[in-house]
Amino acid sequence: MEFLPFTRPTLDEATIAAVAEVLRSGWITSGPKLKAFEAALSQRYGGRPVRALNSATAALELALRLCGIGPGDEVITTPLSWVATANVILEVGAAPIFVDVDATTRNIDLGAAERAITPRSRAIIPVDLAGLPVDRDRLYAIANTHKLRVIEDAAQSIGAHWNGHEIGREGDLIAFSFHANKNITTAEGGCLVMNSEEEARLFEKLRLQGVTRQADGGMDVDVLGGKSNLTDIAAVIGLKQLAKLDEFNSKRRDLARRYFERWDNDLGFDLPPKDFERSNWHMFQPLLPLSDMRITRGEFIERMRLRGIGVGVHYPAMHLFTLYRARGWKAGDFPNAEDIGNRTVTLPLFPTMEFADVDRVCVTLSEVLRS
Ligand SMILES: Cc1ncc(COP(=O)(O)O)c(C=O)c1O
Repeated sequence: MEFLPFTRPTLDEATIAAVAEVLRSGWITSGPKLKAFEAALSQRYGGRPVRALNSATAALELALRLCGIGPGDEVITTPLSWVATANVILEVGAAPIFVDVDATTRNIDLGAAERAITPRSRAIIPVDLAGLPVDRDRLYAIANTHKLRVIEDAAQSIGAHWNGHEIGREGDLIAFSFHANKNITTAEGGCLVMNSEEEARLFEKLRLQGVTRQADGGMDVDVLGGKSNLTDIAAVIGLKQLAKLDEFNSKRRDLARRYFERWDNDLGFDLPPKDFERSNWHMFQPLLPLSDMRITRGEFIERMRLRGIGVGVHYPAMHLFTLYRARGWKAGDFPNAEDIGNRTVTLPLFPTMEFADVDRVCVTLSEVLRS
């Protein structure tokens, strides 16, 4: 039987032809396709300025720089995310302040976030883990009360909704990822939704060496920028993918629903929230019943692989990584994030899967746990 990976990008022949066209055009780096991709994203987000670049990591880092956040500042975030979320805070010289996650949503515990605010706090970076949105009402109530910037790490939640509004249409700064595993991809890439053209102009400079081009063909550099622009090769993939986002997400929702229908509840897993309104179902992640199991998570993953099914881990709690332990965090600091990080497994979920694939995962998983 064919191996079923936990994710796979959906790239059609029209996309491949569009990439070939860019390659033949003579203009392969940032150019007209990037502009068109940004315009399409902006249209999706109610006309807000959007700029794309080569990763969401860069989008988050430049968002911090746009906010003027640096040494001496604190940024509150979750320890249960891809490590990029906190690495960017260190990258700009600020201090990440982790707080635990809610055991049910697995997203940042906003009560704990509010209690962590100090006079040095400048921003909150919430993460919509697996595509399930953080409570935007409560998030912005806290941010407004305490005059904090919000940099939404929506790397995983493109096309998700809060109160009927698509993530990105409202809020402060919103970063999406187009990494190969995400609901839409440019192979590598990301974007930032901003509040004003002024922010977008500064962002453009930060994205490419701080350069401003002048009408007479000259240029100036007045801020220190890096190099994180997106190529037209990638942007044209993004354009084709964006047109399919709703279709992809709808299929993901149907597949997630199928998982709940076919799930063997006697196995003792904790399932993710059964949400079919807000989440974009970026991942389907049950938590293993580890204390009742005779095998480890690693052995579970290996046995699934031998039966032709790919299983991922997204993510171990990051405060226990060596880099962060060296900054003082230790086991026991965030019990929910640690428990979820230890037990989580990512099962196959991508738009070209069939219901039969979900059924196969459910049956195989029962066999592995019961054997
Ligand atoms: C929650 C989260 N934040 C940030 C990132 C970084 O995205 P990118 O790989 O585009 O830099 C990712 C990507 O995996 C992510 O899942």
